[in-house]
Amino acid sequence: MEKKIALIRGDGIGPEIIVQAVKVLDQVARVYGHSFSYTDVDMGGNAIDKWGDPLPQAELEKCLASDSVLLGAVGGPKWNDVPGPMRPEKGLLRLRAAMEVYSNNRPAKIWPQLASASPLKPELVEKGIDFIIVRELTGGIYFGSHSTRQEGGQAVAEDILTYSAEEIRRIGRIGFETARKRKGRLCSVEKSNVLDSSRLWKKVMHELAGEYPDVVLSDMLVDNCAMQIVRDPSQFDVIVTENMFGDILSDEASMITGSIGTIPSSSLGATTRGLYEPIHGSAPDIAGQDAANPIGTILAAGMMLRFSFDMEREADAIEQAVSDTLDAGFRTADILSSTDCVKVGCTRMGEEIANRIQ
Ligand code: IPM
Ligand code: MG
Repeated sequence: MEKKIALIRGDGIGPEIIVQAVKVLDQVARVYGHSFSYTDVDMGGNAIDKWGDPLPQAELEKCLASDSVLLGAVGGPKWNDVPGPMRPEKGLLRLRAAMEVYSNNRPAKIWPQLASASPLKPELVEKGIDFIIVRELTGGIYFGSHSTRQEGGQAVAEDILTYSAEEIRRIGRIGFETARKRKGRLCSVEKSNVLDSSRLWKKVMHELAGEYPDVVLSDMLVDNCAMQIVRDPSQFDVIVTENMFGDILSDEASMITGSIGTIPSSSLGATTRGLYEPIHGSAPDIAGQDAANPIGTILAAGMMLRFSFDMEREADAIEQAVSDTLDAGFRTADILSSTDCVKVGCTRMGEEIANRIQ
């Protein structure tokens, strides 16, 4: 198969981890007889420096003309004082909106090899950690109006949180369908004791439940969910939640699996063109030191093969190569928890994984 992939290297560790993911993709192409071509796209802080815009229209067009988009990470302290609409992150939000990828899938699964890297007690880890957070990605407070004004001699800031029933319904369906393919348990997470948008969320989820009699739906308040994820993560199969809650809970969920560095994510909408990225940020503190963990990005490339290109065997091969590399004892600094492992940098980790693709 021939596929056109838009590559957004981004800022901080973004470029380093993307190089490793491309190495793995190229190896998959060789072994399985595919041809992947890449187009570089400027987005984030580097695009602000180069073009004065975190996502110029021409760069966005390249993404929309591709079969899928692979992203490293954007942002960094250099652009902290840039005004809101021009921040590096705004490029990412505009991209998600323009690609209409409303459904973000973030797995929290512990690799058995990394169990000792989890900050949770071994008896909790042994019960198993294997759930998915389905996060609504193009609505809610991220996309409401944002403003800061002077009022009564002081600054007042406002961010508007809006959801329509239809926006909730379409992500709700993804939640139910994801649960249906797994253990059949869907937990809808909201703050219906305080927010109107959450009360609508809960109502729509319960309306949908009638269409999915094979899925057991439960409700959980987001504060309780944050607690339950560290108290007993084995209780979760699929969590479906709104944009900001999903952002926060997915960082928490990734940490209990050992490191945020190993978690990929997929973002999809109505078409097969997806946006694939690790869930971590640009980690400017370790950028350029060959210290980043490329596994999240490599697994994101694997998700791209599975969900956008229908390449199941190839995606399995990437996951297997990651597992085999961990079995062989290779660890980047963030997942190094035992002395009998070999500490490697980002480049070597990418090479070890690519060499194990078969
Ligand atoms: C994420 C990130 C982004 C988000 C930022 C960079 C805008 O934290 O993908 O989780 O909040 O969605
Ligand atoms: Mg986040």
